[in-house]
Amino acid sequence: MKDRVGAVAGVLIAAFTLACGEPPAQFTEPMVLGGVEVPAEVLNRGQKLYANHCASCHGADGSGKGPAARHLSPGPRDFRAGEFMHKAAEGDALPTDAELRRVIKKGVADRGMPAWGGLRDEDVDALVSFIKTFSPRWQGPVGDPHGGAAAE
Ligand code: HEC
Repeated sequence: MKDRVGAVAGVLIAAFTLACGEPPAQFTEPMVLGGVEVPAEVLNRGQKLYANHCASCHGADGSGKGPAARHLSPGPRDFRAGEFMHKAAEGDALPTDAELRRVIKKGVADRGMPAWGGLRDEDVDALVSFIKTFSPRWQGPVGDPHGGAAAE
């Protein structure tokens, strides 16, 4: 009897873990983003962190329309369009990695973007890389820091 209870509990725990588990790792291949080849495991780490910490506002699809975004005005921008505001460059130029890292770590206090200063540097870097996967603007040849943006 005790064994059966244990077995039933085991099945329930397994079902629970499956139902609540992380989304499956999305990347099997490295990607060239902003001119740099990023390994699949870094992108998968970024995907997981993004799902846990960022998707509520920025949307699982990067659209800026996560469930919590309706409370924010202006809401987060659309990562799929590769539109960024927190950068020194004018116009529709893409931000640098340093600028992306800075806005993630420091947040934008008066606009509802939390500061993620508690994340490890490699996690912030993984997030920076993962965010780039939403827009074709970052995707271009190795060595071209502006990725596909130059072609537009
Ligand atoms: C509570 C909602 C919320 C969460 C959670 C959140 N953000 Fe944001 N984020 C925002 C808002 C709102 C803005 C736009 C701020 C502005 O308008 O200046 C923003 C802006 C940004 C920007 C700058 C975009 C630009 O235009 O330059 C980046 C990059 C970013 N977020 C990344 C992240 C990452 C990575 C995470 C998870 C670790 C995250 N955000 C979590 C709300 C959020």
